[in-house]
Amino acid sequence: MNILVLGGGGREHAIGWALAKSPKCEKLYMAPGNGGTSEIAENISGLNAEDGQAVLAFAQEHNVSLVVIGPEAPLVAGVADVLREAGIDVFGPSAEGAQLEGSKDFSKQFMMRNDIPTAAYATFSDAESAIAYVQEQGAPIVVKADGLAAGKGVVVAETVEEAVAAVRNCFDGAFGAAGATVVIEECMFGPECSLFSFVSNGMSYPMTPAQDHKRAYDGDKGPNTGGMGSYSPVPIVTDDEMAAMCEIMQKAAAATKAEFALDYRGTLYGGFMLTKQGPKIVEFNARFGDPETQCVLSRLDADLVDIMVAVAQGRPEDVHVSWSEKWAACVVLASAGYPGSYEKGKVITGISEAEELAGVKVFHAGTKINEAGELVTSGGRVLNVVALADSFDEARAQAYRACDLIQFEGKQMRTDIGVKAAKGRSAWE
Ligand code: AMP
Ligand code: GLY
Repeated sequence: MNILVLGGGGREHAIGWALAKSPKCEKLYMAPGNGGTSEIAENISGLNAEDGQAVLAFAQEHNVSLVVIGPEAPLVAGVADVLREAGIDVFGPSAEGAQLEGSKDFSKQFMMRNDIPTAAYATFSDAESAIAYVQEQGAPIVVKADGLAAGKGVVVAETVEEAVAAVRNCFDGAFGAAGATVVIEECMFGPECSLFSFVSNGMSYPMTPAQDHKRAYDGDKGPNTGGMGSYSPVPIVTDDEMAAMCEIMQKAAAATKAEFALDYRGTLYGGFMLTKQGPKIVEFNARFGDPETQCVLSRLDADLVDIMVAVAQGRPEDVHVSWSEKWAACVVLASAGYPGSYEKGKVITGISEAEELAGVKVFHAGTKINEAGELVTSGGRVLNVVALADSFDEARAQAYRACDLIQFEGKQMRTDIGVKAAKGRSAWE
């Protein structure tokens, strides 16, 4: 069958790579894709992934029978709805389902209605009542813009002053319409862990836990980024916590079927905090996480086309997942200056040497082929270097060996991916 993947990051390269391994994938299109996806797919530039009619026209013209939506923006824009109405199978929820990510207030109300453990919260649409609430609750406290803010709309405030400044910042328009409503939450404590589930027709098929590293620099210092590295599985998660997380994901999946016009069909991303009272949801996302997916799909021992078609068609009983026993570690190579401003167009070398190392796969994020046919940087996060190995330590060591073989001007990376988790749970005490 012909398949179209929307998106062009490392997550989409990993999704495309896993789909392309299936004998059922005849022709793969990626829009826009990147310098790496051109090896496994036909990259389509100039297709607006958030324009449902344009995506539909492309799919019909190219005989596409499955569309996989990578990022949140097309989901929130309702691209899945347009395609489904036209009878095309889509992996990704409707606009309504995507509100679990698109609106923190919607998501919190969903959790409250369905008895899903999460931080206590209140929602405000004016600065004065929000500030009064912050002053009454005290710090630490968490201030969140309601809408999509590219991961920048959350402030974990250590002091009341910081929280008040964050509230004002939102209502002063720092996040545009996304900040016109503000959610204020109780601060939770503990390690974080992502658990994605394939969700369809009210059933949840959990994937394997993973963890990302959001801060730019070693020791979890510096500004938040899209993610600087990840690993899977997560060694500090206990069996009881895993069971509790799976139960929460199933409860959420059942609720999507009960509440949404068409059940949720895609990946539901549970962002958990492992608190002393048990796992609680920090956030739901309506898609795969980036860069956790690069580790998770590297460990998938099943046909992703079969899984995605079954999810898209509302046949969860046909979803069969199994996972490699190996450990995966992913290190992000970024451009100098990221997550601030950075230069593009730097020539990249050493990827094929890196991939000769056992268990190493390099997914591309911000890369492209220039007019001279060279692979060059074209974004902040450039490459995601994944290593699979028999132990957590070896996976991390092998990923870093591979990173050392890859060069481009200004290459930056964190050198401590997985270090805290390798020390065990006490590192969070
Ligand atoms: P979100 O975009 O909601 O995932 O929040 C981004 C990050 O902020 C999370 O990954 C957590 O590290 C932190 N965070 C969000 N909500 C809370 C909370 N209620 N308590 C503590 N940390 C939080
Ligand atoms: N890795 C975090 C996210 O994808 O939202």
